Amino acid sequence: MQPKQSIVNLPVYQPGKPIEEVKRELGLTEVIKLASNENPFGCSEHAKAAIQDELANISIYPDSFSTALTGAVADYLQVERNQLIFGAGSDEVILMLARAYLSPGDETIMADETFPQYKHNTVIEGGTAIEVPLKDGTHDLPAMLAKITDRTKIIWICNPNNPTGTINNEDELAHFVSQVPKNIIIALDEAYFEYVTNAEYPNSLELLRGHENIIILRTFSKVYGLASLRIGYGVAHSGLIRHVNQVREPFNTTRFAQAAAVASLADLDFLNNCRDRNEEGRRYLYQEFDRMGLSYFESQGNFVMFDAKLPSQQVFDGLLRRGIISRARWTYYPTYIRITVGSQEQNQSFIRALEEVLQEAAVLG
Ligand SMILES: Cc1ncc(COP(=O)(O)O)c(C=O)c1O
Repeated sequence: MQPKQSIVNLPVYQPGKPIEEVKRELGLTEVIKLASNENPFGCSEHAKAAIQDELANISIYPDSFSTALTGAVADYLQVERNQLIFGAGSDEVILMLARAYLSPGDETIMADETFPQYKHNTVIEGGTAIEVPLKDGTHDLPAMLAKITDRTKIIWICNPNNPTGTINNEDELAHFVSQVPKNIIIALDEAYFEYVTNAEYPNSLELLRGHENIIILRTFSKVYGLASLRIGYGVAHSGLIRHVNQVREPFNTTRFAQAAAVASLADLDFLNNCRDRNEEGRRYLYQEFDRMGLSYFESQGNFVMFDAKLPSQQVFDGLLRRGIISRARWTYYPTYIRITVGSQEQNQSFIRALEEVLQEAAVLG
């Protein structure tokens, strides 16, 4: 049996190590996972109540059209209902976009390093991923424009970028969008949108109004804390959304995810609290990195990427032995670690562990 040619050399996705596995392997009782940019404060109590209510309907297929959620998000964003598509995480929206628009031989342009699913889904569809190195940790939009060819179908902009947390501002993005031919889709991945505190961050919904080739991707996995339920969405003009809908599986989002997402949207206190605590956490980490003389990218997400000045695998292993799961092994940043901003207690445990690791390796005195 031979699989399709495009996946022959495709790696299987390697998630951050699960907490239970690390406990078992290293004989630890306390393990803190700061590897996957999850919300350390859980989710809204209203979301939990909504899930409880839905339990009575567990044997009934979910609403294929996510009607209630579509209405809630449309009101929240002030867009039309037919401008929305929901997926099992924004991961699935990325997959559906690639499935709907890419044919073998097509190209998509993305940053390097950025979120790996853009490349993954491009390759699965038989396309070619054109990767453009980041400039100072940020998307190099002019260099990305220069890579456009007749075969370009999608340009992926991760804003804030995962793993660096950097943003492209309103002016840069608006200029970029004005230069991209209208037949090329611009996918603006805003998975960390709610954590952004920089006033120069683009108002992408405003940009969307004048451009039929933009799709904005958002998720309930991050600030809303619903990562395990798998629910994210895309916002675009109705024509584009219709094509993505054509390749959507009939029941791609669960009734628990839909109900929890509706309840979460209404809980602004939870969202604001998480955003504020994340901002405090980022500032604490910067202050500690400064104290240790380590450089880092200023992040607009719920994670920070810093230079540990040692091979990242060594730092990753040292942190792991101390019960901290981080992310390492970035192609262009071999000494950098990405760490999710945790609760204050988790952040302090991480900093203690990092100091020990660096002292052990004599990076710090
Ligand atoms: C930039 C970015 N986009 C999309 C996703 C996918 O999120 P989900 O599928 O949970 O919505 C992530 C998850 O880490 C991410 O970092």
